[in-house]
Amino acid sequence: MTILVTGAAGYIGSHTCVELLEAGYNIVALDNFSNSHPESLKRVSELTGKIFPIVKADLKEETLIAEVFDQYQIEAVIHFAAYKAVGESVHHPLTYYENNLSGLINLLKVMERYKVKRIVFSSSATVYGSVAQMPIRENVPFGKTSPYGKTKQMAEEILNDLYTSDTAWNITILRYFNPIGAHSSGRIGEDPTGTPNNLVPYISQVAIGQRVMLNIFGNDYETKDGTGVRDYIHISDLANGHLKAIEAPEGLNVYNLGTGCGYSVLEVVEAFEEASGKAIPLKFTARRPGDIAVCYADPVKAELELKWKATRSLKDMCEDTWRWQTLNPSGYTDFNHLVQKAE
Ligand code: NAD
Ligand code: WQD
Repeated sequence: MTILVTGAAGYIGSHTCVELLEAGYNIVALDNFSNSHPESLKRVSELTGKIFPIVKADLKEETLIAEVFDQYQIEAVIHFAAYKAVGESVHHPLTYYENNLSGLINLLKVMERYKVKRIVFSSSATVYGSVAQMPIRENVPFGKTSPYGKTKQMAEEILNDLYTSDTAWNITILRYFNPIGAHSSGRIGEDPTGTPNNLVPYISQVAIGQRVMLNIFGNDYETKDGTGVRDYIHISDLANGHLKAIEAPEGLNVYNLGTGCGYSVLEVVEAFEEASGKAIPLKFTARRPGDIAVCYADPVKAELELKWKATRSLKDMCEDTWRWQTLNPSGYTDFNHLVQKAE
């Protein structure tokens, strides 16, 4: 089967490409590299020993998508391409609605035209907003969220309406919790642009000395130690979920991809200190606007229906992040430094 992977060069896309290629799928990787570097895909090739087409295209241009479907026998799509920064989406909502929703609509229109009706869509636990009862099951209604989160809610609605109009579609919506970590080789990982918004990339940059200290956003939540609790999931476990999703049961299905365990910020800091052998200087600051206290998944539906379960521990997640960080101190932008050092 040949799968079109949009946003393939990004964090989750690149790890999923590795899983797909290792499982024997053919892929066509599409990205506009607005938040990624082609080097990640070179490394996917190197890790798997497989060569695959890489198309530089923006999903906002429908004709470019159609060219891909003209050229390759695409049978399914995994759609990662989107903007994902919550804070940025509050300041630039139109950019987010345009990119995330027009990209999806253009893609679906082309898929419909070429009679390719199998798609896996990247949604997010952010669609739930603040939920009183943990763990979160898929039947919890959408909650209040950011413009970014609303693009995911609206995308899910669009996919639902599309399925209602034509039940020949096979649509799998995956709601990711908090992906962290890196491929165990240390060759691919998360490469945030500018100051990281997310906890683990920030901690990692503090550990390696690129940032002075971690600001912990609030220690007055009603949690075990007052700091926020999240469901961190290893990126390779998450990527593996897409293999199962591509063969998901017929129809439209929604699955949480999480571990079902909640860890506090302080627990993550401690695990990272152990994995890296570095002390993480920190200070407590005000809560971050829009943050919730606790969020973790009920992953049972994916376990039962997709036969998928996360297997890697928080220790694995921290060790793999640290390997990626130390081998690639500036992410993909200085991929020559090891070669230069060796010379
Ligand atoms: P990422 O930014 O690393 O990857 C997204 C990729 O899409 C990037 O390579 C970017 O260049 C590309 N892209 C963006 N807009 C595009 C467009 N119009 N045309 C072509 N390419 C475009 O992000 P990620 O962490 O890999 O996230 C992948 C998906 O998962 C996104 O849809 C994101 O919203 C969703 N998600 C991410 C997380 C997370 O914490 N990382 C959690 C939940 C959901
Ligand atoms: C985790 C915890 C922070 C940074 C975000 C998006 C969500 C999804 C995943 C895409 C929280 C605390 C963080 C820091 C801190 N992405 N923190 N200091 O907010 O759960 O989820 O990424 O869909 O939509 O909202 O993840 O890693 O930003 O925060 O104290 O410098 O770490 O307050 O408790 P979050 P996060």
